[in-house]
Amino acid sequence: MPTVTGTDDIFGDVAEKFEFLENFAKKYFKKFGFEELRTPIIEYSWVFKKTLGDSSDIVMHQMYSFEDKDGKEIVLRPEGTAAAVRFFIEKLCHTNPRAKIFYIGPMFRRERPQKGRYRQFHQVGCEMFGFDSPESDAYLIFLLSEFLANIGVKHKIEVNSVGCNLCRPNYSSALREFFDGKILCEDCQKRRERNPMRILDCKKDVEVVKDVPSVLDFLCQRCKTHFDFVINNLKKFGVEFEVNPKIVRGLDYYTGTVFEVFSEKASSAIAAGGRYDLLVEFMGGPQTPALGFAIGVERVVEVLNFQPDKKRLGLFICYTSEGKEKAFDFFVKLVRSFHLSGEEIGREVGDDDLKYHIANRFDISVETSKSLKSQIRYADSQNFRFVAIIGKNEIEKGTITFRDLQNSHQFEMKEDELLF
Ligand code: HAM
Repeated sequence: MPTVTGTDDIFGDVAEKFEFLENFAKKYFKKFGFEELRTPIIEYSWVFKKTLGDSSDIVMHQMYSFEDKDGKEIVLRPEGTAAAVRFFIEKLCHTNPRAKIFYIGPMFRRERPQKGRYRQFHQVGCEMFGFDSPESDAYLIFLLSEFLANIGVKHKIEVNSVGCNLCRPNYSSALREFFDGKILCEDCQKRRERNPMRILDCKKDVEVVKDVPSVLDFLCQRCKTHFDFVINNLKKFGVEFEVNPKIVRGLDYYTGTVFEVFSEKASSAIAAGGRYDLLVEFMGGPQTPALGFAIGVERVVEVLNFQPDKKRLGLFICYTSEGKEKAFDFFVKLVRSFHLSGEEIGREVGDDDLKYHIANRFDISVETSKSLKSQIRYADSQNFRFVAIIGKNEIEKGTITFRDLQNSHQFEMKEDELLF
């Protein structure tokens, strides 16, 4: 039975890569003062409809929406920024007008499925509210670039400025003139009037946009100065990037700096973002400059060079029928006594020590009718490092036998020596 078109199950090695990426992101972004936000997966449609723009692909074609029983229109969130802004206005801006948040979770867009493009996908996103300096743009791009470098993803960053409400109308007029008489796809014919910049992002009209005028020639003094400073700061921070005046982003809320990040191995962007200085006010909040980005988890996982750790780990408790009671008693005691993390114990005793293994992983056979031999075979197949063997002999001696499955070395210990 297949999953819904454009969606996939996440399991095994891929699940481990997701876990690695998400855990690392949490640690990394918290270190720089970003707080985690979990918004609902369903939102009222107004959150996205106006903010992403009537002429965006997402609003035109890709939103999963339905009418709730009370007649209200609900959508599955297609992205995280507008939801974060809704949260900021409602619950944060009064106490925390300068805030840094991050989110991790699934997003939904009814796109045409292809490699790297899903209908349910995951993003790790960061948003900064209340920051307007060009240094904050460079800081955010720098953190993103270092994040990717830290997990071993080679990448290329392309930056641009899409201007503001003052300068963009001039650029839009120039584009309308440029596209006049040119053959465009059906969507772009509508876009030519409503939002001609969006045509630069069209996957069908790539040839037509080749020689479009550059947005950078139309920036007002304020936008130009801001962008120049962003670029200087990126250079100071040692970020490698290119200016690409064709980066316009597919969402309406951007103002000023925008960027997209590509991996060496994938043609579509692995992350993207920019400034959206007018969005908070547009959604009913106080005037608040803001900026952010989102990383596409599936696309990063695809190029991640991370090999899930296949080293043997943990203790598996096996027993004979005589040892069963003592074995379960030992298991219960272990569950109740190991509260320290594997990392903490590892620092104390090293990662070859039985205690380190127990702190990371332990389990007991619950197939009580299976022979000792088959329990040990199972532990081996599950890549456990140690087995505990509890039988008649162990009960008589008041000890437990341990076998290191890596080298078959066997030794005995008393229960008390292991409990914390
Ligand atoms: P976006 O460019 O729509 O921006 O998405 C960001 C990233 O999510 C993309 O670069 C890509 O890696 C991934 N992505 C998007 N759609 C799909 C898909 N259908 N399948 C797989 N991956 C996908 C945003 O969503 C903005 N909210 C980013 C932002 C945050 N701007 C400011 N703050």
